[in-house]
Amino acid sequence: MILKTRQREQVLPQPVVLISTVGKNGVRNIAPWSNITPILRPLDEIVLASWIKRDTLVNILETGDFVVNVPSADMVDAVMICSKNYPPDVDEFEKSGLKPCLSQQVKSPGIEGCLAQMECTLVEEISRKNYSLIIGKVVHLEAEDKFFNEAGEMDYENAQPLSIMLGDRGMWFTRPVYVGKYAEYSEMFLKKEVIIFKKKRIKKIKKLRPQVA
Ligand SMILES: Cc1cc2nc3c(=O)[nH]c(=O)nc-3n(C[C@H](O)[C@H](O)[C@H](O)COP(=O)(O)O)c2cc1C
Repeated sequence: MILKTRQREQVLPQPVVLISTVGKNGVRNIAPWSNITPILRPLDEIVLASWIKRDTLVNILETGDFVVNVPSADMVDAVMICSKNYPPDVDEFEKSGLKPCLSQQVKSPGIEGCLAQMECTLVEEISRKNYSLIIGKVVHLEAEDKFFNEAGEMDYENAQPLSIMLGDRGMWFTRPVYVGKYAEYSEMFLKKEVIIFKKKRIKKIKKLRPQVA
């Protein structure tokens, strides 16, 4: 089956987070977000894509910070309330009934009851005609104790972080399920000869990108 090129999300699961911000005028805002991803493990930056008409984008640019909150599947109704295009002077904590929690490192409040709160500061905006890419640095990351084991790993089957598959006319809300295979990161590393070959390749790539130190 051949899909239209704009149907990328119909073959690609995405996370659902709630981004909380505060405007210059002090009005608190919440919006659901799926176009968001960490930038490479184990760095501490994330990138999100935003249409330029979003209050979230204006707030991030005006205040320089935001919080990425991870909702659980049972918060899906509140997620949809926050997706409505309320005017910028509407407090979306009041509209959704979600409760704020004090952030440690940024002015934007987090959302109580979420699985995790990532406090972020604005690093860079990459502007396009109709949208922006926002690179943020995670400056504080806190998670709900009861869903983490002693090794610091999330019990995602119980925590049920929200995710999504898009359809043509709507969204299917989903959650991750274990498929029966666990792999150590070390399994990705190859034998010594291959590593030498890869080092040569990295040298070559650096030559192709002289503008990056
Ligand atoms: C599950 C879900 C994911 C969304 N992801 C994005 C996104 O990645 N980028 C974006 O610009 N809008 C996204 N939206 C739309 C915004 O959440 C929505 O337009 C919201 O009203 C924006 O609020 P704001 O203007 O207060 O920022 C998403 C909506 C939903 C329901």
